[in-house]
Amino acid sequence: MATDNAAESTTTYVADFMNKLVSLCKRRGIIFQSSEIYGGFNGFWDYGPNGAPLRRSVERAWWKYMVEDRDNVVGLDSTIICAPMVWKASGHVDQFSDQMTDCKDCKKRWRVDQLPVPGECPACGSHNLTEPRDFNLMMKTYVGPVFDEEHKAYLRAETCQPIFVDFNTIRVATRQKLPFGIAQTGKAFRNEINPRNFTFRSREFMQMEMEFFCEDEGSLDWFDYWMKQRWEFYTKVLRIPENKLRWHWHEKLAHYAKKAVDIEFEFPFGWDEVEGIHHRGTWDMSQHAKFSGEEAACSVFNPDTKESRFPTVVETSCGLDRICLMLLCNAYEEDTAATQKADKDEDIRVVLHLPARIAPVQAAVLPLSKKLEAPTRELQKALRAADIRTEYDDTGSIGKRYRRQDEIGTPFCVTYDFETENDNAVTVRERDSMQQERIAIAELPGYLLGRIHA
Ligand code: GAP
Repeated sequence: MATDNAAESTTTYVADFMNKLVSLCKRRGIIFQSSEIYGGFNGFWDYGPNGAPLRRSVERAWWKYMVEDRDNVVGLDSTIICAPMVWKASGHVDQFSDQMTDCKDCKKRWRVDQLPVPGECPACGSHNLTEPRDFNLMMKTYVGPVFDEEHKAYLRAETCQPIFVDFNTIRVATRQKLPFGIAQTGKAFRNEINPRNFTFRSREFMQMEMEFFCEDEGSLDWFDYWMKQRWEFYTKVLRIPENKLRWHWHEKLAHYAKKAVDIEFEFPFGWDEVEGIHHRGTWDMSQHAKFSGEEAACSVFNPDTKESRFPTVVETSCGLDRICLMLLCNAYEEDTAATQKADKDEDIRVVLHLPARIAPVQAAVLPLSKKLEAPTRELQKALRAADIRTEYDDTGSIGKRYRRQDEIGTPFCVTYDFETENDNAVTVRERDSMQQERIAIAELPGYLLGRIHA
């Protein structure tokens, strides 16, 4: 009984937390349902004025960390639709499927591996479920004027396949030698049976993947190396606390793989995957060699051994939308301590403690009075020139404006007041500590940049 109560209160807490986060994201233009005026479209999400810069800056941080700051990883931006044979070779056309079942009573559809109680409908409790059947997750379209089997094509289900296909062109163009990596970020599409947990499982989402090509002999060392690098990305660059992350090793491995591990985050709805690090062996390169007949484009000649071999691949693969969801869940706080007044529930300060580097707005510029608009706009110009994402706001009291900025995670609010004309300084209020400091205008861009990139 006690366990039942505990389980029930956890379920309520999760639903409550997620409802609040989803509602904040909509209210503040961060993330909301696609096609909302048509009732929404399940599994598709739009990033609004405060979500687009968040997603872009996380992608930018990943690209810098994985590509720009390294000599041995180069970038690619391939098409979403590739020759259909690519997906035949990769195994997606024949094997990329989940098992689904339908409840004959309430007509809901489920992924068999996600049923909490096997053989029981989670919605109505019925045991009247259809036999499990395979459901291919590839999204299909047609290329050309005729809509028939021959013209069928697929939207990519993962961003890595074009990397394998373009491997040789990129290797020759960049004069890279093994070991080296190719990275790509972009949209991927999966016809998920049951999209759920806000953006966690979507049908259109962004992946950020890096395929590292090496000799098979050293591949396990590279696997360990990339595990360390990826952990560092989450803890040092995105500032996710170590105790909210963990490793989850795969027990069932594909025959060609030597190791596979996920990085999981403790979401409100439980520990779940944000990234996979996979040893893919020579599977992809040998499959593309077989299906394309271009063996030389899929292998590397070793001048010492005078031998051509398929390179072994170690992959790091994460979902950008999942990372944004992780950041939002981690950042969300209802701060009562700072503002508590007796019997005043409405005084809760909702704040997103996002790292300054990825916050949608990094500095809000606020004139104390509308009369100060012109010089405040000048100040905003100077911050923009220093590559700081800013927002100008002159509506409502300063307190209300602070609250609005807290809700979208703005780390610094800069107030231009009547004293500024005399002392050439402004008040900088920090989101997390709510401390205020007077900073000379001439020093402001440097001061903020130092804090943002600390
Ligand atoms: N190339 C390997 C690959 O695609 P995966 O485990 O299927 O591996 C990698 O996907 C990452 O992509 C996951 O860790 C997750 O972050 C993200 N991802 C996968 N399916 C997703 C979905 N339906 N919605 C959002 N993100 C997804």
